Amino acid sequence: MHPADAVAIDGRRRLRPAGIAFGGDYNPEQWPEQVWAEDVALMKEAAVTMVTAGIFSWAKAEPRPGEYDFGWFDRVMDKLATAGVAVCLATMTASPPPWLSRLHPEILPETADGRRMWPGGRQHYCPSSGVYREHATRLVERLATRYAGHPALEMWHIGNEYGCHTPMCWCDESAADFRRWLSERYGDVEALNDAWSTAFWAQHYESFDEVLPPRLAPTFPNPAQQLDFARFSDDALLRCYLAEKEVLRRITPDVPVTTNFIGVHKHVDAFRWAAEQDVVSVDVYQDPHDPDTHVSAGFVFDVTRSARAGQPWMLMEQAPSAVNWRHRNGPKPPGRMRLWSWQAVAQGADAVLYFQWRQSRGGAEKFHSAMLPHGGTGTRTFREVRDLGRELASVPQIAGTRSTAEVALVLDWNSWWALELDSHPSTALNQTDIALAHYRPLFEAGVTCDVVPPDRDLSAYRLVVVPNLYLLKEQDAERLTGFVRGGGHLLVSFFSGIVDDCDRVHLGGYPAPLREVLGLRVEEFWPPAEKETVDVRHPDGTVSRADLWSEVVVLEGAQTVADFGSGPLAGRPAITRHSFGEGSAWYVATRLAPEAMRALTEEVCRTAGVGPVLAGLPRSVQATVREGDGRRFVFLLNHGQEPAEIQLPEPMADALAPGTASTDRITLPAAGVAVLSKP
Ligand code: GAL
Repeated sequence: MHPADAVAIDGRRRLRPAGIAFGGDYNPEQWPEQVWAEDVALMKEAAVTMVTAGIFSWAKAEPRPGEYDFGWFDRVMDKLATAGVAVCLATMTASPPPWLSRLHPEILPETADGRRMWPGGRQHYCPSSGVYREHATRLVERLATRYAGHPALEMWHIGNEYGCHTPMCWCDESAADFRRWLSERYGDVEALNDAWSTAFWAQHYESFDEVLPPRLAPTFPNPAQQLDFARFSDDALLRCYLAEKEVLRRITPDVPVTTNFIGVHKHVDAFRWAAEQDVVSVDVYQDPHDPDTHVSAGFVFDVTRSARAGQPWMLMEQAPSAVNWRHRNGPKPPGRMRLWSWQAVAQGADAVLYFQWRQSRGGAEKFHSAMLPHGGTGTRTFREVRDLGRELASVPQIAGTRSTAEVALVLDWNSWWALELDSHPSTALNQTDIALAHYRPLFEAGVTCDVVPPDRDLSAYRLVVVPNLYLLKEQDAERLTGFVRGGGHLLVSFFSGIVDDCDRVHLGGYPAPLREVLGLRVEEFWPPAEKETVDVRHPDGTVSRADLWSEVVVLEGAQTVADFGSGPLAGRPAITRHSFGEGSAWYVATRLAPEAMRALTEEVCRTAGVGPVLAGLPRSVQATVREGDGRRFVFLLNHGQEPAEIQLPEPMADALAPGTASTDRITLPAAGVAVLSKP
């Protein structure tokens, strides 16, 4: 293909061929220059079309303050350009060089108990540090100026996994920044006193100067202070990102920017950050020892896909096989890396990249797998990588297509932060666990699901699922109420709608802002003891087990669908349904066992008229659709350990098996993938 025919992720003309980008992190500074030619040759062999380079290059690119050495990097960029490999160029600021913390130890972050985090690992900077940002943006200015017109440059990769190791810092500079942030948020200190309920425990502030981050205290620090500190810390990281983005926009206004999320990460509000990116990207490290790893990965993919309303996104990092940072690091069994990579594409990715290209010889990640392992090209990992690269290259027409969903699951970072604070009826509530408990049955039923913040327009959905939305603003509750009134269906789980934006209880009976739509009131929270279970009796006579939470539900128009069958709440509602306006609102007052959750989800989906992409599939087979511009692809992925027989509604052809006839019956082997379209 002539380079002029190439189209990049965002649709601009670029070096690499059109289609799904394939490649990974490239860290040439770890290797002598003679190795680079082999790198590029093997990249071609593996059909690599994009690398993300320079992530940890600061110390080599600026060996002494203000003295830059980009000569070596020019040669890397030129080699890649000559080979037609596009570069997602990192801004090099993820790990500051030793000279910076020696000259300015004040950039080093501090923990809540005042311990300093020293250099020697990475990401050892306080997100509020002015000195760090000044040096980082100065480097970015040089980098952007130097490579603005380079043919290999396709996009910018700002920082790396913001908040991965240092999501928060409690040092004096952070404290000053926090005070500044608070005075902007509240204007005067009395507004802060009100928001933080400081009349409690003699915490009233006379001026912002008295306010500190929630450092180690004799007992529970003020919850609203902790919540604001989580917001502030997310914001401080975002400001690091924005400071670099501002430089890049000024110098290279046409080059798209991204930064890679660490999965769905508590400290970084993906919905807020996505608005500041041109393309969203994410890192996902499936655990081969976890039989459900594809479900949690699926959740991350759907969050990422939804973050910019369905726009194709990038899988920026995954492991070609094992990682090095779990207690037991199992390799990906044959075929699973291919399957899980296709899963990302099936859920909307237009890029499949890895950490990293060549396995490190030394350093903390030498036992982390790489596309090119220590053992070289004669290894299973390299073969699987190369085969996948070629396979992805054979179906460029997938790129740019999108999925649509009729179901949305609500996730809100503010509520997540507040839900998991201490001093609650139970400290065992975990936002992602409960979100996954709701997500899993949708995933297994083959129902495509967006994940959205509570202020997103809901009108395109038939069903909205709200797991543990503890913190809920009045206007968002009104939006949910209006959604049901207008004919939507809503499924809400326990301990939702409890507090306002400042972690103050909505008075008038829990969950006050949702009482009308749910047709009930919760009088008392009743979390069972650890490991205790309670029975739930279903209308079909079956009994399931629930745990973690229960509560006293008083009906105010809703009907009981299932009740507690044991324990202190026996006979009281456990699941309710309220016909409201043109729609219905369901409520679950406990954590149901997976089977019961599955049955409930099926019933709610039926009521909402929501169906799977393909009916009648085995639970282990995932099906998704991507379409656009007259193209339509059905992806089938067998996550099980056995072959699956699949009956299609009409004959279709598998784009991954060119030359084979269209058929309406497919046998998908374990870990098998099919990409179907109508002939
Ligand atoms: C990511 C990080 C990479 C690499 C990888 C190993 O969190 O961005 O640089 O460390 O993990 O799994």
